[in-house]
Amino acid sequence: MTVYFIGAGPGAADLITLRGQRTLAACEVCLYAGSLVPTELLAECPPGARLVDTADLNLDQIVAEFARAHEEGRDVARLHSGDPSVFSAVAEQMRRLDALGIPYQIVPGVPAFAAAAAALGRELTVPTVGQTVILTRVARQATPMPEGEDLATLGRSGALLVLHLAARYVDSVVEELLPHYGADCPAAVVAMASRPDELVLRGTLGDIADQVKAHGVLRTAVILVGRTLGAEQFPDSHLYSTDRCR
Ligand SMILES: C[S@@+](CC[C@H](N)C(=O)[O-])C[C@H]1O[C@@H](n2cnc3c(N)ncnc32)[C@H](O)[C@@H]1O
Repeated sequence: MTVYFIGAGPGAADLITLRGQRTLAACEVCLYAGSLVPTELLAECPPGARLVDTADLNLDQIVAEFARAHEEGRDVARLHSGDPSVFSAVAEQMRRLDALGIPYQIVPGVPAFAAAAAALGRELTVPTVGQTVILTRVARQATPMPEGEDLATLGRSGALLVLHLAARYVDSVVEELLPHYGADCPAAVVAMASRPDELVLRGTLGDIADQVKAHGVLRTAVILVGRTLGAEQFPDSHLYSTDRCR
């Protein structure tokens, strides 16, 4: 028996990986985060599978589901939105599984930041303009940011920032980043990336907050800030250059 943490992707049901889909189809128990995971994916579960929406469960209740499946010898598909490696709360689940001696594996998925880049039609790393992408979020009382990871500190790097769980705090995001990026720095917001209700807002750090508020974007959105978003004059990369050593 194994618990499979599966990245369900950003929302479009066909953005799960083949491995994720096959694993889902083979598990008799499926725990899914109902608020973000596309429910169409549940059709992939085998007939009679136990389906549990974890949106209203606490960690103890989720672990109890794992333990029950373990006792029954049934594999578990644990669906998380995007990729499990970021902002998924899988670390604490894996720690509990370790303590219980229950085996697990991770099946990666398409993260929201990649779906947002696709929606924008941009590469997030561009030669000489930007080669670093910082995936982060803003501090909230429930989960404060570790020391040194506040926006002002990260902003000093000038790297492209992709802010999760931040749309409702767009005013304070802009305020903290303005001294480092400037009002003319390209910024974008992608909400519901890859979903039918996807919304793409393009602008600058100076006007993005007004756009976000005008569209009432509060959740399931990423904010991107950085010069790479507007890069046009940049050299070709070495990867396909004619003088590259082969
Ligand atoms: C709990 S985190 C999950 C992140 C996920 N593990 C990933 O790999 O992208 C939820 C946040 O991810 C971002 N997010 C998730 N799905 C998104 C989507 N389809 N479009 C835009 N942002 C999304 C939003 O910032 C949202 O508040």
